[in-house]
Amino acid sequence: MKLLHVFLSITIWYSYGLAIDVVDSALDGTLNEIELTDDDHGYTVEKLITDNGYPVETHNVTTSDGYILTLHRIPHGLNSKSTGRVAYLQHGILASSSDWCILGAGKGLAFLLAEEGYDVWMGNARGNSWSRSHVNLTTDDTEFWNFSWHEIGTIDLPTMIDYILDQTGVPSLYYAGHSQGTTVFYVLTSTYPEYNNKIAVQTSLAPIAYMNHMTSPLLKIISYWTDTIEALASMLGINEFLPNTDFIKFIIGDDLCKEDTVTMSLCTNCIFAICGFSRAEMNETLLPLLTKYSPAGASTKQVIHYGQEVKSGYFRQYDYGILENMKYYGQMTPPSYDLSQITAPTYLIYSKNDWLSAQTDVEKLCSHMSNGCAGKIILTDFQFNHLDYTYGIDAPALVYNKVISLFARH
Ligand SMILES: *[C@@H]1O[C@H](CO)[C@@H](O)[C@H](O)[C@H]1NC(C)=O
Ligand SMILES: *[C@@H]1O[C@H](CO)[C@@H](O)[C@H](O)[C@H]1NC(C)=O
Ligand SMILES: *[C@@H]1O[C@H](CO)[C@@H](O)[C@H](O)[C@H]1NC(C)=O
Ligand SMILES: *[C@@H]1O[C@H](CO)[C@@H](O)[C@H](O)[C@H]1NC(C)=O
Repeated sequence: MKLLHVFLSITIWYSYGLAIDVVDSALDGTLNEIELTDDDHGYTVEKLITDNGYPVETHNVTTSDGYILTLHRIPHGLNSKSTGRVAYLQHGILASSSDWCILGAGKGLAFLLAEEGYDVWMGNARGNSWSRSHVNLTTDDTEFWNFSWHEIGTIDLPTMIDYILDQTGVPSLYYAGHSQGTTVFYVLTSTYPEYNNKIAVQTSLAPIAYMNHMTSPLLKIISYWTDTIEALASMLGINEFLPNTDFIKFIIGDDLCKEDTVTMSLCTNCIFAICGFSRAEMNETLLPLLTKYSPAGASTKQVIHYGQEVKSGYFRQYDYGILENMKYYGQMTPPSYDLSQITAPTYLIYSKNDWLSAQTDVEKLCSHMSNGCAGKIILTDFQFNHLDYTYGIDAPALVYNKVISLFARH
């Protein structure tokens, strides 16, 4: 009965997406503009940075397959001397470069690193709020959304890294990634090991590679129904991941959606619902601003790919099913990423209460890297959850000061 209920909810979730599409095409594509009020338009990452008193630059790079990605840069701090070092920050799924700035001056990792004398660059993966252009396609095209984090790791990330190295003239970058921002780093350095030399050090905040011990209720459901969701999504043409809020409420309702306006607004926001956050770490004053920037967009395929990881226990490429796998990969199962190719010094920062980065999975990841990872740092705050690394009140004290001192060691 429960399974039938879940199945119907998934159908409703996707049908809802379809209904929006139908109305949208009837209105000749104007619905998206109606939904985005004037109020929302002003909320750019540039505004977030200048409102905090910092200089900002915007750079576009075009990938080999035509996606136009936006990089945000804080070239220097306000009271610091340049160290000549370049930091690179890569956001998680459904997130963007705004994550590193949202806590504000003196707290956001981007601002802290700028004050440490770093030239700070922040990437944006294809499909998020700031990387939605393509030389030939629009976000209405199915083809635009035909990517997973494999393409972000093998195409977007090297394109952005090479552009930054070229612009700044440094030989290597100081990399901090959160969640999917760590996945794409492992994908890149295991697939193209020559990129290890372009990374002076990597700090992984809430690392994601192996996932079969994760505990997120919504992702569990998604992983159980990957084939159904994939089929429905392709049948209905829902290529961007936009689950409806009633569906989310139904799945995680009992746990988090209490009669409390703060948790209500968070539990119906798909990024919080999938990834998990802790009530104690949530700054209510920040919430209205935070929800202007999140969720920032991702493909359905990205989420399904993670669902496959949960189900299979492997860290490997997208599973198209036996027949299609034979066509793409020449074997029945997708090839695994060869983590032993990762030689850049990589530090894993994780916690026990993380819905997505389970302790067992993180430790397995470390053991599979070349000579293990450079270090494992487990946070002792037992409440710290997946999104608290970017939005949590204690992120600067618990996490960012560790990133800064690990960077300084190299
Ligand atoms: C970057 O690309 C976007 C989308 O194509 C465009 O609107 C924007 O003006 C570009 N910005 C810069 C600095 O080139
Ligand atoms: C864009 O379209 C042009 C003309 O059809 C084609 O030559 C080019 O390869 C396309 N570029 C990409 C990245 O798909
Ligand atoms: C998606 O991309 C793959 C190659 O990566 C291609 O074979 C497939 O036809 C594409 N599907 C769509 C719907 O564009
Ligand atoms: C909560 O956010 C507001 C607005 O950014 C900020 O002024 C305040 O200091 C934050 N509180 C804590 C405890 O971080």
